Amino acid sequence: MSCASCHSPQYAYGPPNSLAVQLGSDPGQSGVRAVPSLRYKDATPPYADNAANPDGVTLPSAGGGFMWDGRATTLATQPELPLLNPIEMNNPSKDAVVQAVKGGTYADLFKQVFGANVFDDTDTAFADVGQAIQSYEQEDISFHPYTSKYDLYVHNKIGGTLTAAENRGLRIFNTGDVANCSACHYGGVNFDGNQGLMTDFTYQAIGAPRNDKSIPGNSDPIPANDDPTYYDMGLCGPYRNDHTPAQLGVPDQYCGQFKVPTLRNAATRNAFFHNGVFHSLNQVAHFYNTRDTNPEYWYPGTGGSGAPVSNPTYALQPTYVPGATVAKFNDLPVAEQGAVDEEVPLGTGITPEDNVNATTLGDGVQPRAVGSTPSITDQQITDLVCFLNILSDGYQIPDVPPTSGACVN
Ligand code: HEC
Ligand code: HEC
Repeated sequence: MSCASCHSPQYAYGPPNSLAVQLGSDPGQSGVRAVPSLRYKDATPPYADNAANPDGVTLPSAGGGFMWDGRATTLATQPELPLLNPIEMNNPSKDAVVQAVKGGTYADLFKQVFGANVFDDTDTAFADVGQAIQSYEQEDISFHPYTSKYDLYVHNKIGGTLTAAENRGLRIFNTGDVANCSACHYGGVNFDGNQGLMTDFTYQAIGAPRNDKSIPGNSDPIPANDDPTYYDMGLCGPYRNDHTPAQLGVPDQYCGQFKVPTLRNAATRNAFFHNGVFHSLNQVAHFYNTRDTNPEYWYPGTGGSGAPVSNPTYALQPTYVPGATVAKFNDLPVAEQGAVDEEVPLGTGITPEDNVNATTLGDGVQPRAVGSTPSITDQQITDLVCFLNILSDGYQIPDVPPTSGACVN
């Protein structure tokens, strides 16, 4: 199995299919998280609990690093994780990897770069494999092409004129009291001087629904979620262990936090969020908008009485029973739900600072009341998705600009 079998160059170095999680080299083994795109990782700073925010305004917070939980410090040390993971590439040891490189067609090139004796010491050679992969991910232009329509727009180039719908989407994306996407999916200048990555590299708890069999008709629940005691809590474990709650049941600010992903090329994906529970951008946008106002669209319910009522087609739960108790934030243990974000559009917090300064949900940052009006209108969601679509690389300027379609007028 190659890195590219999960991070396909044809799919912006993301997954080549719509599965929430991918199979390992042993097909009986299945992953536990969605495969992120490897594009633009060169701009990611190392992980720190108090990383500076690129927007220059937001207070330092957990940020940077690789994997959904930042547990890989650099692109050079990251490859060890998939290479040796039994549910991924499943190599038995570092030595097995080094022997494979030694026996590979590129062994001589490897020696040219790292020295004729590189294969004498397994640990050094294995570290050099990581260095080589890091160099490729950092230096090959295919990992950071900056060839989207949005890039033409930002740099005022020919072909960069946005349609009316894309323009509205951009504004809504950036408007603090409407969609507020840019509060986390920051599009300004990054630490590396480029712009428009649509991430501030921080970690946030959005409260995504559990990707398991509680979703009717779910075609690819995560097998690990069959165990009701298993929770993927991001920064607080189980795959990193430096923010583990001191005592089970003691709320921990890091629990449920996952990395804010870049939205570049998100439109080429079919599975979204760390657990791949969502399958379209439209669905993601509606989730942000109605997580609090209509939790019955997203989380399973129990009890209630009467005939089930249909939910909108974008909902994960097709129906709900009036009066049912909805298991909101069901992918976190109840005691660890305290860090879930209530910024706009999810809740009513207006600025990132509201969130950083909030010690409790009562601190001026409130959930939206069940049944209240969501922050974003349906038309605005359509516009937002039009905008997200222009963040994909490889844009070809059409000979004749379209004059009709959902994303034009
Ligand atoms: C079986 C599928 C699979 C294979 C094979 C695989 N990866 Fe991944 N990769 C993933 C998944 C899933 C994640 C997210 C894991 C996590 O957050 O714990 C990931 C995360 C990453 C990240 C971090 C990206 C980010 O946004 O922080 C990098 C870099 C990466 N992989 C590189 C590689 C390299 C290099 C190889 C080959 C040595 C490789 N991967 C092989 C599935 C795979
Ligand atoms: C409070 C910070 C925050 C705000 C505000 C926010 N996001 Fe996110 N976004 C995140 C985080 C964190 C994730 C990953 C969550 C996870 O995996 O559990 C994410 C994931 C996503 C993804 C999935 C990308 C992928 O590769 O899987 C999309 C698409 C997205 N957000 C779009 C939006 C849009 C559109 C808005 C505005 C309506 C928005 N976000 C507002 C923090 C935020």
